[in-house]
Amino acid sequence: MSTQYEKLEKCYEYYRSVTDFAPKVGLILGSGLGGYAKNMTVVKEIPYGDIPGFPVSTVQGHDGRFMLGYIGDVPAVVMKGRVHYYEGYPMEDVVLPTRLMKRMGIEVLFLTNAAGGINRGFRVGDFMMITDQISSFVPSPLIGENVSELGDRFPDMTHVYDEEVRRWIEETAQEEDIPLQKGVYLQTTGPNFESPAEIRMYGLLGADAVGMSTACEAIAARHAGVRVCGISCISNMASGISEEELSHLDVQSVADQRSGEFERLVTKSIEKIGAHTG
Ligand code: HPA
Repeated sequence: MSTQYEKLEKCYEYYRSVTDFAPKVGLILGSGLGGYAKNMTVVKEIPYGDIPGFPVSTVQGHDGRFMLGYIGDVPAVVMKGRVHYYEGYPMEDVVLPTRLMKRMGIEVLFLTNAAGGINRGFRVGDFMMITDQISSFVPSPLIGENVSELGDRFPDMTHVYDEEVRRWIEETAQEEDIPLQKGVYLQTTGPNFESPAEIRMYGLLGADAVGMSTACEAIAARHAGVRVCGISCISNMASGISEEELSHLDVQSVADQRSGEFERLVTKSIEKIGAHTG
């Protein structure tokens, strides 16, 4: 058994020792969604620090815990605070939480984040449903011994963001009258924001938005056979597209301003996902 798998199993054993809750949907909260708890019925909270071997996030505004409960009547596990590669954890630790949620039983993973807009048709505050991703600028979370209990050595990535789930999200956005852009998300390592030349390059490569999370989590989830979907809140236009200098505080502040509508879009989408996946 690989060391990483042993670590995962220890985390899972701890989880099982404190609850028998079986979530169907996993939700990772990005910037601005820190107050999401009010949209769900929480039955149990597990601070990351209580889970043996679990990576604990250090970023401002990311207070780390799993919240277990119901979104509508959909059993869900919600991650308040995620772990980022730029914090110094190896990629396999960055995706440990994703793998643990798979172990808890999730079938669908809903990823959210704040991202910089590269597509000039976007505006600050827009929501972008992620249709595909570019993860080539960060190491694959699958490097190293393959955890065959989770998935194949060479998993396919043709359909990272599940087409059927995407349709449900689009329907939800229409029903809720929330404008929804679509596009390709590119992950960088961070923690520095990009230079204007880098953003021009990423735009030429086909990226519509850039951020410092998500793509690696999507790969780990697909590896494990979990259906994936994701929405970015465009918290700023990327470097050089806007003349303004970028700051984490500004990112946080736009994401916070958009939190009400973001929460509604995510909640209603998950209710629809739950209704379709029974
Ligand atoms: N770049 C990278 N990550 C981000 C950005 C950005 O402009 N905005 C929010 N997260």
